[in-house]
Amino acid sequence: MSSTSTPAIAGGTPLRLRPLAYGRHHLDESDISAVVSSMRSGTLTGGAGVADFERALASRCGVDEAVAVANGSAALDLAVAALGVGPGDEVVTTPLTFVATANAVLRLGATPVFADVGDDRCLDPAAAGRAVTPRTKAVITVDYSGLPGDVPALRAALPRPLPVIADSAHSLGGSLRGRPVGSLADITTLSFHPVKQITTGEGGACLTADAGLAESIRRRRNHGMTSTADERTGDLWKYDVTVLGDNHRITAMQAALGTSQLGRLDEVVAERSELADRYDALLADIPGVGLPPRPAGRRSAWHLYVIEIDPEAFGCKRDLVIDALRAEGIEATLHYPAVHLLSLYRAHGGVPGIAPRAEKMCERLVTLPLYPSMTASDQDDVVVALHRIQTWAATRANGS
Ligand SMILES: Cc1ncc(COP(=O)(O)O)c(C=O)c1O
Repeated sequence: MSSTSTPAIAGGTPLRLRPLAYGRHHLDESDISAVVSSMRSGTLTGGAGVADFERALASRCGVDEAVAVANGSAALDLAVAALGVGPGDEVVTTPLTFVATANAVLRLGATPVFADVGDDRCLDPAAAGRAVTPRTKAVITVDYSGLPGDVPALRAALPRPLPVIADSAHSLGGSLRGRPVGSLADITTLSFHPVKQITTGEGGACLTADAGLAESIRRRRNHGMTSTADERTGDLWKYDVTVLGDNHRITAMQAALGTSQLGRLDEVVAERSELADRYDALLADIPGVGLPPRPAGRRSAWHLYVIEIDPEAFGCKRDLVIDALRAEGIEATLHYPAVHLLSLYRAHGGVPGIAPRAEKMCERLVTLPLYPSMTASDQDDVVVALHRIQTWAATRANGS
């Protein structure tokens, strides 16, 4: 089947019999052994396994403290709560993110204020600076697709010092001018969902250099209690509750999987980078396909490979490109619909025009499959499919 065959969306034979997912976890036997050993250790939650994972994460990310939690959304909730955000406060963030980023703010009764993104698709420092008001309590930047946001530039653009959270759910293993993700913001949050660089099934973490913030996050992870179940041994059995927390704990089995996976992080990021480079080379000559930004001094961890479709130059709109790729068995998708235009956020005042650059991107972005066990032939299928869709779109435009 060539790149000029009829696309599946127009009745042709799909390129793929087995669908190609946009992301996929990778487990090896050492991961499975690590989980089995953890299950045999006698401790299913908390304990030394969680502490080991936290130490390994902190050391890999060049930061003093890591607190492992149940998922990346909980990590955001805990980070925002630890900064004391509450009703009446505003938190500046980007609309080009997963809704969990803004939900963490809304859940505390505070207002997410959406500022536009830059060419790097991350929160634009100047736009963030302009969005700051006397009520602003913090700023959350998001390392979109794995590219670390420029946190020092963001800090410099703020009219007054404010705590910065980096939602680095996409970027573990990335770096900015040699500084690893995790060491840049006041609090960095991570996700270990299966499509991420490392997985614990569900899982996440908060990273910080501030011992006080780490302690606050730890306490809130465990209902706000002054001691953990591990600590309440012998004659130590009483506890107090000092803040409103929740059960955001991670299990020992998840932590064991995380420690094992973390050992291969560099390898995984290198594999993802190679695939991204190959996509760049294969897609460079397709009219209307914008390649992911590669700003100098930043090393992406390549969670996602996201192209931008210019509908005029490509020959059809983004939605049709995604529909047509999916008809071929290629599970292209969108990261993300603009958060401020989701119904929930419209009900909180979100209107078109707040972040024009992000809104335009959200009409044009397409996430293509990218994960380490993807083969060159899988990748070739994606490229053939895009050519096929473009050729077909041109015939439709000509009315033939
Ligand atoms: C940018 C961003 N933030 C937060 C999250 C939430 O992470 P989790 O799914 O682990 O709760 C995600 C999840 O994919 C994400 O992409």
